[in-house]
Amino acid sequence: MRSFSLIFKQFSRSVLLIVGFAFWGFSAVYAQTDAAKGEAIFKSKCTACHKIDQVLTGPALGPQLTEETDDKYLIKWIQNNQALIAAKNPKALAIFNKFEQKGMTTFTDLSDADVGNVITYIRADWKQIQDDKAKGPVGGTTVAEDKGPSELAVAGLIGVVILAFIIILVLNKATGSLEKILANNKDIVIVEEEQVVTVDKKAELLKKILKNKKLVFFILVCGTIAMGSWGWVTLWNTNVHTGYQPVQPIKYSHELHAGTMKIDCQYCHSGAYKSKNASIPSLNVCMNCHKVVKTESPEIHKIYDALGYDPKTQKYDSTAAKPIQWVRVHNLPDLAYFNHSQHVKVAGIKCQACHGPIQTMKEVYQYSPLTMKWCIQCHKRTEVNGKGNAYYDSILAAHDKIKKGEKVTAAVLGGIECGKCHY
Ligand code: HEC
Ligand code: HEC
Ligand code: HEC
Ligand code: HEC
Ligand code: HEC
Ligand code: HEC
Repeated sequence: MRSFSLIFKQFSRSVLLIVGFAFWGFSAVYAQTDAAKGEAIFKSKCTACHKIDQVLTGPALGPQLTEETDDKYLIKWIQNNQALIAAKNPKALAIFNKFEQKGMTTFTDLSDADVGNVITYIRADWKQIQDDKAKGPVGGTTVAEDKGPSELAVAGLIGVVILAFIIILVLNKATGSLEKILANNKDIVIVEEEQVVTVDKKAELLKKILKNKKLVFFILVCGTIAMGSWGWVTLWNTNVHTGYQPVQPIKYSHELHAGTMKIDCQYCHSGAYKSKNASIPSLNVCMNCHKVVKTESPEIHKIYDALGYDPKTQKYDSTAAKPIQWVRVHNLPDLAYFNHSQHVKVAGIKCQACHGPIQTMKEVYQYSPLTMKWCIQCHKRTEVNGKGNAYYDSILAAHDKIKKGEKVTAAVLGGIECGKCHY
């Protein structure tokens, strides 16, 4: 029996391994060939007129290529749409007229395989976009991930438990029937111990359970796994404050100001474009409007009180001022350096990629986990925009110098920029 279960274990392990490797290998090969090549071509030749999920000069290619599945036609169209139109191909004429005969460039330099790769990429990316949409709220993009312990690990644990359960059941059955056979052969009747004394039935059941070593073992394994996973998840989420939404001293709503009224984030958080901190606006910014807007509201009177402003006399009394104490939502530990302008201005990342759909929040909450894994995931995924950026130009220049074996100083690598040494 033991050797059987061992063989079974090894067998299942190797099957799992093989399946895992096959899947991994397939996805790696797939990623390196078709879609990745297609993406490069798409980005260099098609993005001037097409987006995958939006109509630009030409149709949104995601939905278009989901509808149009005749790849032979598509390849011909992309290589030389004008020939198709000249030949009065009905599909080609239809789309040509639908887009007011704007006309698309021809790409006779692309081979059938090239175009096939582009098509593969577009369909894969469109699927990704739809999957992402199904997963997260608007404005989320793919950034706010980092869900802590991977779902795969949890699924794996559950799988192990189920497998263990099945094995134990099978073993139990087998030993049971073996015992029966043995007993039959020896003509021994297993006498059920019938005790005359009325024993507490629960205690008896417990005894029975405790006697069944396999069951006890199984329960112990389950318990260990459950405690282990609980500990694991708890440790992962220590100091992660996703969803943190403190009550603020004034009922200021981003949904109203940034959403409905469409006030630009920059109007209040201009720091995000110029410096490390986005900063919270001073109440004087609010007064630009609230000197006259909603002057009767008790919430607005909190602004007046904080500034020592008397709406009747329209005078400020700085001695009566007591600043509003906004409760900080996002807070990295001091050991991490995060700079807004580096991300917002240089990298051109939208506020919503990190802060979520702020313009729909009545009260701000922390949308992203702000863990190191979160920062790193994004750094691994996001392509930097090096065009027209003097810093990258200087890096390229330094790179060329190193290649030629010329002298490169720290200054060339940005070592005399103030921000490198000063906060
Ligand atoms: C100069 C702009 C422009 C460029 C560049 C461009 N397209 Fe188009 N594309 C269009 C327009 C406009 C249409 C709509 C039909 C028309 O007006 O000719 C279109 C239509 C299409 C269609 C729809 C055909 C159909 O019948 O469903 C596909 C597919 C397509 N383009 C793929 C591509 C691919 C792939 C590339 C890059 C290799 C590309 N396009 C580059 C402008 C462009
Ligand atoms: C009219 C001024 C105003 C505008 C416009 C505005 N905000 Fe704010 N924002 C505030 C104030 C005041 C606070 C502090 C109170 C709070 O947390 O609600 C704040 C807080 C925040 C916080 C949380 C800061 C923390 O404590 O961690 C984020 C993030 C934020 N804003 C992002 C945005 C984004 C993104 C936009 C544009 C879509 C925007 N804000 C537009 C005034 C504004
Ligand atoms: C560009 C103009 C503008 C700025 C700047 C502005 N607000 Fe407002 N705010 C409004 C308007 C308009 C309303 C009223 C909308 C309505 O009629 O309900 C309003 C409503 C409010 C309300 C709800 C009042 C109530 O009782 O319904 C609060 C609270 C508020 N603002 C706080 C602030 C704070 C705090 C700031 C500064 C961080 C600020 N606002 C900056 C235009 C502005
Ligand atoms: C790359 C991610 C990212 C982007 C993009 C981003 N933020 Fe932040 N934001 C953060 C992090 C991380 C913090 C916490 C910083 C800290 O504690 O030092 C933060 C903090 C803030 C705060 C709290 C005050 C402060 O300065 O620390 C405000 C307000 C804010 N962000 C507004 C914005 C606005 C407005 C934009 C868009 C113009 C924006 N953020 C874009 C990640 C981002
Ligand atoms: C939405 C994606 C995104 C997130 C999230 C993000 N970053 Fe970045 N970060 C970037 C990009 C893109 C750049 C490159 C900008 C450039 O071109 O210089 C960058 C650059 C940086 C740099 C400068 C690197 C250098 O070589 O000069 C630092 C430091 C940095 N990020 C810190 C952080 C920290 C800390 C966090 C998490 C709190 C974070 N980032 C989260 C996208 C992101
Ligand atoms: C290579 C690192 C480095 C760079 C680059 C750098 N600094 Fe400094 N800076 C320092 C150090 C270190 C000190 C402190 C020296 C001391 O205390 O004697 C300092 C001191 C200063 C002080 C004096 C502060 C005081 O309290 O006395 C100012 C002002 C200053 N730097 C401005 C700048 C400016 C502006 C730039 C960009 C043009 C710049 N620094 C670039 C390293 C640097």
